[in-house]
Amino acid sequence: MKALMPGEPLSENPDQTTASADKPPAVEVLSAEKVFANGTRGLAPIDLTIADGEFLTLIGPSGCGKSTLLKLIANLIEPSDGRLLWWRGEFGKVGQDGRRFAFVFQEPTLMPWARVDANVRLPLELADVANAKMAPAVAEAIERVGLSKFARHFPRQLSGGMKMRVSIARALVTNPNLLLMDEPFGALDEFTRNNLDADLIRLWWERKLTTVFVTHSIYEAVFLSTRIIVMAANPGRIFRTMTIDEPQPRDEGFRDSAKFAAYCRELSTWLAEASLPTASGAAS
Ligand SMILES: Nc1ncnc2c1ncn2[C@@H]1O[C@H](COP(=O)(O)OP(=O)(O)OP(=O)(O)O)[C@@H](O)[C@H]1O
Ligand SMILES: [Mg+2]
Repeated sequence: MKALMPGEPLSENPDQTTASADKPPAVEVLSAEKVFANGTRGLAPIDLTIADGEFLTLIGPSGCGKSTLLKLIANLIEPSDGRLLWWRGEFGKVGQDGRRFAFVFQEPTLMPWARVDANVRLPLELADVANAKMAPAVAEAIERVGLSKFARHFPRQLSGGMKMRVSIARALVTNPNLLLMDEPFGALDEFTRNNLDADLIRLWWERKLTTVFVTHSIYEAVFLSTRIIVMAANPGRIFRTMTIDEPQPRDEGFRDSAKFAAYCRELSTWLAEASLPTASGAAS
């Protein structure tokens, strides 16, 4: 990946739209499929366009290919057939201005011997960012996730939720345009998860991030997403797509609404259908 530079000004999203029609899609998955070396068909050919500014969530039973699809999008693995485009170009252009991405894994994967600020600084060091630019960028990313008072702490002195905040700060410090998250809050209690979800949606909105998010939580998917892709397994494929038609940025009021409950009910039914051995790949 090319150098990631911090320091672009933050600006508020000026209107209530989430996906920008005038910008190229962040990612296009063009009949991309994945057969692993041992012959496992991880993904059947997938066609998917991820618009600029979307909050797209992948949900589905274990083994349906969510992580595989995310890794294809991150270019961590290559499709066996088909191809992907990033901002209408090949992966070689990723890393340039307006085309940066960051990945957040389920485990925070922090360096245990390094303090919070050093953990957050790591991607900038790897990218050879000038010293003078690092300190303000690190401080800002730590502040964004509400950990300014803990910048000099070690990971062992933090709770699970705080460690995950550090992991998010480390992703934000690179000022990404596309944020890829694989079950980032899966190991946390529901209260902490809800708080982090609220923080994440605020960050997504303020930074105009395009986000691809993997979860097993129906509530989390409905709360966060502009669009939800339900996947089914054997082979991994898109089963159905749900658009969450609710203004952004969302707050706790949405969680308490009848609309939220209705979306969750429908998504729960679809997930049950996608989990049946006989699930068909037909999209709705
Ligand atoms: N490196 C690999 N080699 C062989 N098979 C693999 C490999 N990685 C994943 N698979 C298989 O591909 C399928 C999809 O796996 P993937 O990890 O993408 O599922 P997932 O939807 O992320 O599941 P989970 O919800 O459990 O994380 C599974 O059948 C899995 O066993
Ligand atoms: Mg997975």
